[in-house]
Amino acid sequence: MTSLVVRDAAAVFSAPEPAPIRGAAFEDVEALSGASVNCDGRTIDSIGEPRTGDTVFDASGCAVIPGFVDCHTHLPFFGWRANEDVERLGGASYESLHSSERGIYRSSQLLRDASDQDVLSFSETLAGAMLAAGTTTFETKSGYGLSVEEELRQLRIARWLKRRLPQLVIPTCLAAHAVPTDKDADGWIAEVLDQLLPRVAGEELASFTDIYVEEIAFTQQHATRLSERGRDLGMRPRVHADQLVDGGTGTFAAQRRFVSADHLNQTSAEGVAALAGSDTAAVLLPGSSFTLRQERKPAARDLIDSGAIVALGTDLNPGTSPILSMPFVIALACRLYELRPVEAVVAATVNSAWVLGVHDQVGRLAPGYRADMVVLQMRHWDEISYRPDADPVLAVFCRGEVAHIAPHAQSRLRTSTAQ
Ligand code: NIG
Ligand code: FE
Repeated sequence: MTSLVVRDAAAVFSAPEPAPIRGAAFEDVEALSGASVNCDGRTIDSIGEPRTGDTVFDASGCAVIPGFVDCHTHLPFFGWRANEDVERLGGASYESLHSSERGIYRSSQLLRDASDQDVLSFSETLAGAMLAAGTTTFETKSGYGLSVEEELRQLRIARWLKRRLPQLVIPTCLAAHAVPTDKDADGWIAEVLDQLLPRVAGEELASFTDIYVEEIAFTQQHATRLSERGRDLGMRPRVHADQLVDGGTGTFAAQRRFVSADHLNQTSAEGVAALAGSDTAAVLLPGSSFTLRQERKPAARDLIDSGAIVALGTDLNPGTSPILSMPFVIALACRLYELRPVEAVVAATVNSAWVLGVHDQVGRLAPGYRADMVVLQMRHWDEISYRPDADPVLAVFCRGEVAHIAPHAQSRLRTSTAQ
């Protein structure tokens, strides 16, 4: 077993137990100054005085935080939709581009026309860039299949991707993403419940179900039926909620004990109160607000101040958020959503891991956790949002191994040659 020591950090991020962190617990996040993170094999062994190690990284002058957990992405997909963005920058709305030639349907077509290998390579390149930006755990979603066989194919490609990557990958079935052009919403949901979900469960292809509840997609009734069927089959429910219109879906998700309600741009004060009083996480996706130039932002400050569980994700997808960097998402969360830096880092690590149900393994720097960490080129994580166009990542370690080192930080790394 090889050992890794990340030593002499200016600040090591230490979050209070248990996950999730909400309310007053944010105050208990500590910066351990001068500490080293000692790892044996794939896990963290101790934090404090440095030991000797096969691999040693000098983190002096740097902050060390847990690897980012991106709890909402639409990987795997194939191809971009920059032309739609140009149309949006010219005044077109996201809704007006939701047609058989564009939007989710366009990505569905691109997926259908690409080979498995093409989708895998495209997505693997993005996952590699995510790793270099510090993401060591992420969610995958289906949702561009829009038929039983294509949804299964997308989920199988996600599993293939997972097996090839060092990151921890947690899959979600978002078959209820758009109404297939040859069906109506009721018909597609019936097919998903009766035909798709049993096969997804049988092949263990997803840990969660997700649904796009929106005027242009599905209803809360559909979400209720999907969540019940999914739960029976061992999948926990999530929902895209109140992104474009306030349909009261934040409240709905809290009442129905969904794992998370994601987006929440239009959610009312009532929805905020319902989420704050529940264990349903509010997953905020500022990359999509930024891309769509949405005037209405989620009531993030109210969510945090009233004690909701807040998590962050990139929402990486070719339509509403072609963004893969969690440091950039943290900067957006601080600047557009008014999160404080420490809240944003917790939301991008501990709480995001809690949403994915892997908070006992990742999202925290503590003995027994996976040795996933990011060394930042700054003395404190509070500075991540200060220079949003500067890459703050000096080094990334994933499962106790070097995953990325910035060229100018190579000299900080010592690897013993004795085996
Ligand atoms: O989370 N709006 C629903 N799903 C994605 C967008 C997918 C797309 O446009 O391809 C989202 O924003
Ligand atoms: Fe999404």
